Amino acid sequence: MDLQTYICAKMATMDPGRSGYGIIEGAAIVCDDALIVWAGRFADMPERFRKAPVTDFGDRLVTPGLIDCHTHIVYGGSRAAEFERRLEGASYEEIARAGGGIVSTVHATRSASEDELLEGALSRLDALLADGVGTVEVKSGYGLDLETEMRMLRVARSLSDHRPVRVRTSFLGAHAVPPEFAGDADGYIDVVCAEMLPAVAEAGLADAVDGFCETIAFTPAQIARVFETAASLGLPVKLHAEQLSDQGGAALAARHGALSADHLEYLGEDGVAAMAEAGTVAVLLPGAFYTLRETQAPPIDALRAAGVPMAVATDCNPGSSPLVSPLLAMNMACTLFRMTPLEALAGVTRNAAHALGLGDGAGTITAGAPADLAVWNVGEPAELAYGIGHRPLHARVHGGRLV
Ligand code: NIG
Ligand code: FE
Repeated sequence: MDLQTYICAKMATMDPGRSGYGIIEGAAIVCDDALIVWAGRFADMPERFRKAPVTDFGDRLVTPGLIDCHTHIVYGGSRAAEFERRLEGASYEEIARAGGGIVSTVHATRSASEDELLEGALSRLDALLADGVGTVEVKSGYGLDLETEMRMLRVARSLSDHRPVRVRTSFLGAHAVPPEFAGDADGYIDVVCAEMLPAVAEAGLADAVDGFCETIAFTPAQIARVFETAASLGLPVKLHAEQLSDQGGAALAARHGALSADHLEYLGEDGVAAMAEAGTVAVLLPGAFYTLRETQAPPIDALRAAGVPMAVATDCNPGSSPLVSPLLAMNMACTLFRMTPLEALAGVTRNAAHALGLGDGAGTITAGAPADLAVWNVGEPAELAYGIGHRPLHARVHGGRLV
């Protein structure tokens, strides 16, 4: 037993067994090493925990550590020049079709060393952690050859050796058609399924398999082949779907039992129904909506009405969402998508955990959950989504320890 107790004026447990934020006032959280063993009102804390060392967070609010469930923080180079071109009128699709966009980051990533990739990823990770993140998902997808995809995933996995953070990785080999397969997307998918996915699975480098279903990327039929291979290797799937057009990607993902379908600006009624039936999480990425000056918002009302769990993430990447703040993503989800501050906080805590297949209570402050907390200099949870560019984090607890 290595007990630590944290006390505070108020905590938002995000416990699905309680209503709303699951608020408890005059709260105590008892951690045994990396797990929460008890959470409730300090006055009700069992006698056996009363000898543990206590850290008092005073008037502050405590929430679960935030979970950023969709990022691409490992990459080489920058796309600032593309940003300038888009402001001069070129569209994201036009740039992609002319060999820029994702493929330009592929060139920069292939020529970056593991150390260079790590250095860039750590600077972005540090910004996420400073905003209360305790768990981050990281995708590959800027290598598009086995060697570089593996290098990206190794760097992603190693992040938790360098910082107090939990990392989940997704293999995104089906992100774009690499230049050497230009005009032969099927040929590239053959390689993804026959060589890349089995090697990544064998090396234990991926927790899930992702893809990009879009006119500038892969068709539903090509994505289905990737999903079938993932299933044969025992890996769960997720998908970038309906970002720029309705390809039926979310329904395809739902049919394959996907953990999540992400973006969803062009999601139709069929997609909403399929996601609701399969329990597939809708991961909303307002940073990409904002950056691409998209005007069609995802169908939040329909998702809400159908009971589809909604998560919110930064989508931190060099092209469509150079955003390193989950709190700003929450604010954008409210202001641009009309989500509520409660939905936004659920979106970066318990629903984000579901989008990653974390069934261990992550994203909640409940007995048995990971001892991963964010401590905020605010009094009410709605303040987290309300501020713009504020830095309300006081401290984090990770693995039961104050960091
Ligand atoms: O989530 N939609 C595709 N993939 C990324 C963008 C990647 C890029 O532009 O580099 C996204 O938006
Ligand atoms: Fe993405």
